[in-house]
Amino acid sequence: MKIAIIGGGNMGSTYARAFVQSNIVAVNDLLIVEKHDEKLEELKKEGIALLCKSIDDNLLKYSIIICAVKPQDFRIMAQDLKNHIHENQLMVSIMAGIKIETIQKLLSHKKVVRAMPNTPAQLGFGITAFAAAPEVSFEDISKVDTLLETTGKSIFMKDEMLLDAVTALSGSGPAYFYYIVKHMIEAGKQMGIEEPVAAMLVKQTMLGSFQIMNNSKSSLDDMIKAVASKGGTTEAALRKFEEYHLGQHIIEALKAAEQRAKELSLG
Ligand SMILES: NC(=O)c1ccc[n+]([C@@H]2O[C@H](COP(=O)([O-])OP(=O)(O)OC[C@H]3O[C@@H](n4cnc5c(N)ncnc54)[C@H](OP(=O)(O)O)[C@@H]3O)[C@@H](O)[C@H]2O)c1
Repeated sequence: MKIAIIGGGNMGSTYARAFVQSNIVAVNDLLIVEKHDEKLEELKKEGIALLCKSIDDNLLKYSIIICAVKPQDFRIMAQDLKNHIHENQLMVSIMAGIKIETIQKLLSHKKVVRAMPNTPAQLGFGITAFAAAPEVSFEDISKVDTLLETTGKSIFMKDEMLLDAVTALSGSGPAYFYYIVKHMIEAGKQMGIEEPVAAMLVKQTMLGSFQIMNNSKSSLDDMIKAVASKGGTTEAALRKFEEYHLGQHIIEALKAAEQRAKELSLG
């Protein structure tokens, strides 16, 4: 499999590393097109792929092309890219908010997959949801699935519209957890615990809670009950959450993220 990645920034280089480390692509079959000199220098030191600075006919040799530039750079990049591709190639976009139809139109190209990854992909703990144009074969969907799973888990969505909700849940999701952890650490500090100790307590609690969620057959409500004994400390905190309607606020916040994703994909 020969793969070209356009944009060697955070996400583009994450995929390049993951493909090579999982032996899915040989270094000589992987190309990164990156216009930024400093990033090219860094990638050269890593030796994970062939490198070039601009899009040209060399791209015709690659069966899969991954678009990993910022969404606002895509329009200009597409004017160039559409002159150096052929109809059998598979275009995979990881650009937030750009619809399959828009990509097809701007590239005059049918075979398009749109994926929404998240940053834990950098450590192999990402989750990527993806949707495909009707012109993409089952075999190609399965290839993309294998590629995306080199950075964690991947999930195929039949309905592209749901990628806005995915953006709100898992695309932006890491930031919500950082926010909660930040405030839990702050609470620890205010109760007299030194920051590094509070950070260790909170982060390990988060990891442990994930392991329980992932390994238990109980519902989330039952898991909460298992920690919160009647009249106890957890119950006192949960009562405050309820008093401030925290659960409803979280739902509203995620809906605002979904709404913003929809607005961005119109532009
Ligand atoms: N980071 C996330 O959490 C995340 C999550 C989900 C999806 N995504 C999506 O992933 C994509 C990449 O994000 P990122 O954070 O990796 O961005 P990034 O670090 O800015 O990487 C993009 C790179 O592509 C380069 N570039 C732009 N136009 C080019 C062209 N025509 N030819 C070659 N290189 C070009 C940019 O150079 P210059 O800087 O010089 O322009 C930059 O180095 C975005 O579309 C984003 O929506 C990101």
